[in-house]
Amino acid sequence: MCGIVGYIGKKQVAPLLVDGLKKLEYRGYDSAGIAVYNEGAIAIRKFKGRLSVLEDYLENEKINGSLGIGHTRWATHGEPNDINAHPHTNNAGDIAVVHNGIIENYMKLKEWLISQGKIFKTDTDTEVIAHLIDYYYKNDLVEAIRSAVQKMEGAYAIGVISKNSPDKLIAVRKDSPLVVGIGEGENYIASDIPAILKHTRRVYFLEDDEMAILSENNIEIFNELGQKVEKEVFEVTWDIEAAEKGGYQHFMMKEIHEQPKAIRDTLSPRLNENNEIELNEIKLSKEELEKINKVTIVACGTASYAGLVGRYAIEKFARIPAELDIASEFRYRDPFVDDKTLFIAISQSGETADTLAALREAKSKGAMVLAITNVVGSRISREADNVFYTWAGPEIAVASTKAYITQMLAMYMIALDLGRKKGTISKEDCNEIIEELKLLPQKAEEIIENDQIIQELADKQFNNQSVFYTGRGIDDCVAKEGSLKLKEISYIHSEAIAAGEFKHGTIALIEEGTLVFALITQDQLFDKMLSNIKEVKARGAYVVAIAKAGNREIEKSADKVIYIPDTLDVLTPMLSVIQMQLFAYYVAIARGCDVDKPKNLAKSVTVE
Ligand code: F6R
Repeated sequence: MCGIVGYIGKKQVAPLLVDGLKKLEYRGYDSAGIAVYNEGAIAIRKFKGRLSVLEDYLENEKINGSLGIGHTRWATHGEPNDINAHPHTNNAGDIAVVHNGIIENYMKLKEWLISQGKIFKTDTDTEVIAHLIDYYYKNDLVEAIRSAVQKMEGAYAIGVISKNSPDKLIAVRKDSPLVVGIGEGENYIASDIPAILKHTRRVYFLEDDEMAILSENNIEIFNELGQKVEKEVFEVTWDIEAAEKGGYQHFMMKEIHEQPKAIRDTLSPRLNENNEIELNEIKLSKEELEKINKVTIVACGTASYAGLVGRYAIEKFARIPAELDIASEFRYRDPFVDDKTLFIAISQSGETADTLAALREAKSKGAMVLAITNVVGSRISREADNVFYTWAGPEIAVASTKAYITQMLAMYMIALDLGRKKGTISKEDCNEIIEELKLLPQKAEEIIENDQIIQELADKQFNNQSVFYTGRGIDDCVAKEGSLKLKEISYIHSEAIAAGEFKHGTIALIEEGTLVFALITQDQLFDKMLSNIKEVKARGAYVVAIAKAGNREIEKSADKVIYIPDTLDVLTPMLSVIQMQLFAYYVAIARGCDVDKPKNLAKSVTVE
């Protein structure tokens, strides 16, 4: 979950690396550094803190050179400080390495390398890579790297330069993304496309265990056996503006505003001329479909809350027993998964280590694996049997918004598709839902355009110690996402609890003025939910209800009511979540928090 960029060519590399790293800063931002080759030496500059610290330094102290690597870090091994920042070098300082991922056997390697006379300066796992390459170096950098990676266990994307091979930039990956950018008289490496998109739209995706050897005018890619591989060039079609703020103060706000479009883009291409859902990407034969006796959904964090809504939709429309598991826990209970299981992995990035590991476990047990992801070419998309892409566009803010909404939409569509094929939902009922899905972008816009009510509420309620979210049925699923959104960007403690569970313990925490968000959008559950609201109000809670437009009854019981446009009960999470995203955003702003880069978090979690 760090960022890598590298360049070989004729331009001054230092500003180019910093510029590329800016596009990756969301991936990690506790320190940043660069290594630049020039006239027989490698200069390293690296600093704790945001990239701007490095940038400011380089403003005053220029570093010349046209070959270099850069890194922005999110610490795993060793505290964030100048020394632990990447790049790392061997003792002579003539080999420099940047690395994303974790070298799991680094302690063993470190002990062995120390016994071989290598002196370690940092607490990182990455430093072993530089020493390993040095250990194997016998006048051939490529061979030395090849030998080094054979010793390494874990996940890595690495970029290497050496004083002894100033005409080469070398990259290798395993279980951590890396792309090679193709230029004219210059070439690039990067952990994500936005870092190099300003310079080229033509990239190669490196596969696991592949090594790329870049010179100014050439790129060669080899597999783990050292055989040359011919790869297809991937043309990037989206624009850099799509990955930049576009006039908004924060990516998160931009991405909240992009939700109506994300819903449209994900929905429309999958509706045929008869207004039916057609999921060409899911190729399940009639026999396979009939065989499915269970759906297991696995994901982490926000994506898992989309999975909760998905579980509800699958059981409702397709009448197949469904379960949701947290990816990091899935493997530890020897799960009941077999060739009759439809396994759905949800992941915005498509790179989340735990989700990937769960997917592999399910696959090894014979399950049919479907991925819902936002990133084309991501690891999860490549390992799944079928992929449903959420066309949300690049999501940069750490707090997921538009990806989450499209993940829920994906789950509704999959559930409806299965339901129609199995005959568990009638054409008429399905049509009614599709018609309503089509109206959601417009209704989402309405909420976003009228956000002053929620902003005013946030301006009054930003100083709470603790905020609770509650609901019943599908409201409970989405309340969990509202609560997560608030805590991750505003650092206020928050908990989501099923309304009926409150009185079994958590109600003890309610005192005079405690803020409780009560979602009350389900007609059938209205009376029961109203009783729950009264229970917390009786203990002093300040209750903000989220209800469907037209439901005035609730105004008698709640302290404040936030309305969402009327829609089918089953689809309300697609709208209620937007109110909760906006509340979290405005609270975080009122508290002066760095909304797009919350502390301790990173966008893509590629370690278990
Ligand atoms: C929170 C958030 C995270 C992610 C989680 C899984 O806003 O974004 O909880 O949902 O880390 O990430 P992906 O979806 O990339 O697998």
